[in-house]
Amino acid sequence: MATTHGAQILVASNRGPISYTLDEAGTLTAKRGGGGLVSGLSAIGSDADALWVCSALGDGDREAVRRGVGEAGVRMLDIDADVHADAYNGIANSVLWFVHHLLYQTPLEPVFDAEFRRQWASFETYNRAFAEALADGAAQGAAVLVQDYHLALVPRMLRERRPDLRIGHFSHTPWAPPEYFRLLPDDIGAQLLGGILGADRAAFLTQRWADAFTDCCHAVLGPGIPSGTRIGVHGLGADADFLRERSHQPDVDDRIASLREQIGVAPDGSRRKTIVRVDRTELSKNIVRGLLAYRELLEDQPSWRERVVHVALAYPSRQDLAVYRDYMAEVRRIADEINTRYGTAGWTPVLLHLKDDFARSLAAYRLADVALVNPIRDGMNLVAKEMPVVSDEGCVLVLSREAGAYEELGEDAITVNPYDVVATARALHEALTMPLDERAERTKRLAAAATALPPAQWFLDQLHALDPR
Ligand code: G6P
Repeated sequence: MATTHGAQILVASNRGPISYTLDEAGTLTAKRGGGGLVSGLSAIGSDADALWVCSALGDGDREAVRRGVGEAGVRMLDIDADVHADAYNGIANSVLWFVHHLLYQTPLEPVFDAEFRRQWASFETYNRAFAEALADGAAQGAAVLVQDYHLALVPRMLRERRPDLRIGHFSHTPWAPPEYFRLLPDDIGAQLLGGILGADRAAFLTQRWADAFTDCCHAVLGPGIPSGTRIGVHGLGADADFLRERSHQPDVDDRIASLREQIGVAPDGSRRKTIVRVDRTELSKNIVRGLLAYRELLEDQPSWRERVVHVALAYPSRQDLAVYRDYMAEVRRIADEINTRYGTAGWTPVLLHLKDDFARSLAAYRLADVALVNPIRDGMNLVAKEMPVVSDEGCVLVLSREAGAYEELGEDAITVNPYDVVATARALHEALTMPLDERAERTKRLAAAATALPPAQWFLDQLHALDPR
């Protein structure tokens, strides 16, 4: 809880640990989020003098701020809704996310026009609001952990206001290679890098992304990372205790029963195998190519028809942006097409669920024979780490070599080039036919690797790395 003298440990992120919904009767309901940061921060204990600064994201959050409803230790910033939309949808999700995940279709995109410059000004305003709130809330010499691409300008802005603070920046995404990063206008690229270099430490999920950041600094700013900034790497693992406990609650058992019913049994009465994926329906997750690979499997290895089901949980994400809505529609279209082409009276080849349901995700994890994680590019990908931990009977992980998790899990997964649909189909076949004893052995090793860096450790390591020397 922050004192009047300011907090000793501060976290800043766009999405905070709590959100509010507002119903028609005007009642506010709070919902706590999960994720690495939430469990990481809990590791320092509730007595710690901590403050989490985040954005008010919807009408419920904004109303909560207006009514003064909130939680001790959390400060939601009610930034003007248009400014926030420009910064979050316009710059963070349509430009920075696209650059770091290599998502542009370059013959037509990107175009950095006057509208982009206008949105960039909002991005600066939004970052400044965070820098001011942090400067205002921090005790002398406090540690501030700034999260992700949304807040890339904050470390520099905060350093200018409060040179006494110890500032870390953490990137949860990949980092673009210089030739791609330089699609950005030169002054904008320099501002982003310079913003992060305002921190004492800039940290990443893997060495690969840390190296790419250093390469961009050399390419854009000239040789040498300024001596004031250290570069760090902190992998983030699955939260084994939480997952094992949560995945055996009654609501998860209910979802298992209902999924089993939808999956059905093969004509000879044997259990159908399941290929499971769980993602936000997010362009980098490569859900469409996953479906194409599954179709290729059914074409190339027809003996799998009626004997396998692809359970695809693809939850809505960033639906304010047309490109995300279109992607979701494409996922739905291809899943329907596969079901129409191959499905029979007793067999639905693709079970596609689009409504976010954490208990169902855990149920699918438990049932998985094969985990399909094939992103175009991903900072880490926790699903790849969670499924081997939770699966009841072991699962084979088919993993993109472009996911950060590849560095830790690559040896015991079947790895794929995410663009190569034929190779992905072959990998699925190999996964489905792997002997059960080998599968069990690999799952054990995957689960051990996946849980080696629990979120609490990840958080504390970053904090300690900022300790005064
Ligand atoms: C990624 C980003 C996070 C972000 C999350 C969900 O993991 O690194 O910063 O919070 O996606 O995206 P959203 O836009 O819904 O916050």
